[in-house]
Amino acid sequence: MVLKNKNILVGVTGGIAAYKAAELVSTLRKMEANVRVIMTKSACEFITPVTFQTLSGFPVRHELFTDWSKNFIPHIENALWADAVAVVPATANIIGKIAHGIADDLLSTTIMACEAPVLIAPAMNEKMFKNPIVQGNIKKLKDLGYCFVEPAEGRLACGEVGKGRLAEIDAIIWYLEYVLSKKDYEGLRVLVTAGGTREPIDPVRFISNRSSGKTGYELAGALSMRGAEVVLISAPTNLKVPYGVDLINVETAREMYEACMESFDSVNMVIMCAAVADFEPADYSREKIKKDSGFEILKLKRTPDILSEMGRLKSQQFIIGFCAESQNLEENARRKLKEKNLDLIVANDITKDIFSSDTTSIIILDASNNKFKYDGISKKEAAHIILDAAIEKYRSSFEVK
Ligand code: C5P
Repeated sequence: MVLKNKNILVGVTGGIAAYKAAELVSTLRKMEANVRVIMTKSACEFITPVTFQTLSGFPVRHELFTDWSKNFIPHIENALWADAVAVVPATANIIGKIAHGIADDLLSTTIMACEAPVLIAPAMNEKMFKNPIVQGNIKKLKDLGYCFVEPAEGRLACGEVGKGRLAEIDAIIWYLEYVLSKKDYEGLRVLVTAGGTREPIDPVRFISNRSSGKTGYELAGALSMRGAEVVLISAPTNLKVPYGVDLINVETAREMYEACMESFDSVNMVIMCAAVADFEPADYSREKIKKDSGFEILKLKRTPDILSEMGRLKSQQFIIGFCAESQNLEENARRKLKEKNLDLIVANDITKDIFSSDTTSIIILDASNNKFKYDGISKKEAAHIILDAAIEKYRSSFEVK
């Protein structure tokens, strides 16, 4: 979403990982970004410009002095065009050149002329990466505002095992989205809950619900991208933890309650997206219940209502609840907003089969009777829409008083 229609200049330098930049370019194009590629001369030893030309749909250059005309100076034109630059993979050489203002080929000259954010994904032998000169250059560039995607640990092309492998492409994409995102949540610590809790009956059985956790994880990821410090308290899911998010795993409603209470005092905002079980088995059996044991009726008791407790305790916290209903959606949502002392509530109509899907339909309601309705949007879009509404309300109710 963030990368759609953005101009991304990919700089490919001469390392074995140069071929992985092809996947980056292809992924960026699928995300509807406009891509241009500049290669260094040594990168052309590892992969040909034709590959990048085909994937990006734009001629690939590496020489400084081709294509010049009165009105076209390649490095200036590219530098002005780019919304962001990604150097993938970045060798010790290009890092050193940028750090020392050396501009002796098309890529280094373009970067020197560019005011857009520059993302650098180093890939090299571990000894080279750990070399104090390289580390000093990286530190210098970080201090100047250049963004780095740390290389991963693993088997390196030279046969050694260590830190120096190019970061995963999805990590590079995440950082690109990060450098291009507004940072309207900077300075805020936000607690997000996600997933459906599990209430054990015996060591093998539990009661749970159909929540996938997707919306909560999208919210955590979007918050982290928008500059928030994020604590994600999650019931079991199959989802990948978003970058930059602190994860606390829990299983039951009671564990979620404890974890939420522990974080509550330190946060500015709570987004209670988890599908917390309303009931738990009254008695837990330590042994697996045998099917011929005569066990037929499962007695339940209520779990703590975390959101109500937070609404009761709240001081500086802005609290957002969720409400999944199969009938009288808006009426129930309004009632909960009031009863639980919330600042916003997001209502989901569960008759629209939102659980396993990547899309959702939401209604956002606030205490001033405002209502915003969105149908058939992706859960990623929903996350950003909820955060847009929340930050506006948060700033007006907590900061301008
Ligand atoms: O009252 P109801 O359970 O429908 O409210 C849903 C909202 O309350 C959700 O935000 C959910 O995360 C939260 N909740 C909770 N504790 C429970 C049950 C639900 O915080 N035990």
